[in-house]
Amino acid sequence: MRRKLAAGNWKMNGLRRDLTEIDALLALHPAPQVDLLLCLPSVLLLEGAARAEGHALTIGAQDCHHRPAGAHTGDISASMVADTGASAVILGHSERRDEHEESSEIVRKKARRAMEAGLTAVICLGESLDEREALNTLDIIDGQLSASVPDNATGLNLVIAYEPIWAIGTGLTPTLEQIGEVHDFIRTRLERRFGPGVGQAVRILYGGSVKPENCAEIFQVSNVDGALVGGASLKADDFSLIINALEASV
Ligand code: PGA
Repeated sequence: MRRKLAAGNWKMNGLRRDLTEIDALLALHPAPQVDLLLCLPSVLLLEGAARAEGHALTIGAQDCHHRPAGAHTGDISASMVADTGASAVILGHSERRDEHEESSEIVRKKARRAMEAGLTAVICLGESLDEREALNTLDIIDGQLSASVPDNATGLNLVIAYEPIWAIGTGLTPTLEQIGEVHDFIRTRLERRFGPGVGQAVRILYGGSVKPENCAEIFQVSNVDGALVGGASLKADDFSLIINALEASV
């Protein structure tokens, strides 16, 4: 059985002093029944990973470069991320695809590097509102999934996050039927490409305005193995309620 995963994404939020939220989270969840991941801004990775060391909380980054090293001013490599003590990285978030014009081909190269560096790649997929209204959601997800996931993916080094762009930070969420349809579709595609073993092992998270108030019903949907949480992961108290709900769904 897949172990559930509660993943937080601080995005471009938080200073060193906010890392006390990690201590608070660890105090609230000393022995969680689900996997916990917190993806921090790169400058907080080292200190965040040090605080989480020895606890059941994994620290992750929010992006890495697709090349191993070299003249790429301002970027960080997958092995640099791993060197901080982090063990995962979000890739292909819609904010990166949009603000940094990242294609699925680039995301796939980044994911391959991340996996080679021993990181788990949390690859994000999602349709825009226009695409959903034009009934193109599954085509968009299909295209992003096949182009963004590298061939060396396994059940351990790959997590998929379905994040409808129109649901991120807006307070809007798809219906439970819409979430289930996309998650079932992603599962089927993963099984077809990687075989039933790997296809069944990859966790598929839902992301986009997940909050303490709406998470319990989302966690009941088939093939929802957890959540990727933005705003509600910034405060340990909020994130903790989501973790409690995920534990209750197991
Ligand atoms: P949100 O962000 O929870 O603030 O909507 C989710 C995400 O972008 O991962």
